[in-house]
Amino acid sequence: MENFIQALPKIELHLHIEGSLEPELMFELAHRNRVDIPFASADEVRAAYEFSNLQSFLDIYYQGANVLVEEQDFFDLTWAYLERCRRDNVVHTEIFFDPQTHTDRGIAFGTVLDGITRALDRGRDELGITSHLIMCFLRHLDEDAAFATLEQALPHRGRIIGVGLDSGEAGNPPEKFERVFARARDAGFLAVAHAGEEGPATYIRDAIDRLGVRRIDHGVRCVEDAALVDELAVSRMPLTVCPLSNVKLCVFRDMREHNIVELLRRGLCVTINSDDPAYFGGYMNDNFLAVADAHDVSQQEIAQFSLNAIEASFADATRKQEMQAIVSEYLATG
Ligand code: HPA
Ligand code: ZN
Repeated sequence: MENFIQALPKIELHLHIEGSLEPELMFELAHRNRVDIPFASADEVRAAYEFSNLQSFLDIYYQGANVLVEEQDFFDLTWAYLERCRRDNVVHTEIFFDPQTHTDRGIAFGTVLDGITRALDRGRDELGITSHLIMCFLRHLDEDAAFATLEQALPHRGRIIGVGLDSGEAGNPPEKFERVFARARDAGFLAVAHAGEEGPATYIRDAIDRLGVRRIDHGVRCVEDAALVDELAVSRMPLTVCPLSNVKLCVFRDMREHNIVELLRRGLCVTINSDDPAYFGGYMNDNFLAVADAHDVSQQEIAQFSLNAIEASFADATRKQEMQAIVSEYLATG
């Protein structure tokens, strides 16, 4: 199974680029930019990555992002992730970034965007990895701040395909951002949102009904509403599930208790993703392997996660067909 997963062409739809900042690069950038970090070594950083819930992770995650200052830093961060994609045989990726984490520290929106897109362009040209960029609003901040961020993004509409919603879910329901999502969709952005990771199943319904999302990020708490599970299966509303993240943040106690295989078998369009791989202990192959180790799944079922991700992706029809052909050929020839 390990070899099958390694060589399976994969598509990632839930990856926070700031969450791919490995401790070694964090140190290098801290030194380069003369930013203080409260750790003496990369090993010490890793030892601090024990989380009890989403907020305990976010506190450390936002602190880590402080070392990102120059356009080159955002390039280096994104390029390191793309090299990892190549090793894991990820052929297409749709990446989140959190502009407010940077603009609130005085970093220009354009600096962040230029660095990330320069790496993504090079990834397409040199590695053949196609990609899209999704800008997330931080839901612990207010609606005005989200509107201001959307205004900053409008001139860059061609380089950002969609908007998302992340950060602390509990107490920050979808309706807080109903108007800003309506404006974003009017401006041509596709919508996604984190929902049902720590928040209740009603947040998943509200993200669909009030925010007009095309995918739900996480969504694993849908099982608390049986009718919702049936609706998600019928509509094929994709869930971008992140197995290692869910266990690290104690959404599930153990990978054997994770519901992703159950959801797959109930006909939902579930996909496997890495979320914040530098913090949660693994990239795409590690996430696939963790699911396969903990659950009795067939190769066909593992491949279905890739086929679901192609269906759920924002790639154009031509690229989707290309990716379907790559996966089909892989299944036919082994
Ligand atoms: N949930 C919410 N916000 C986030 C996450 C997540 O899994 N990762 C980075 N920001
Ligand atoms: Zn996430």
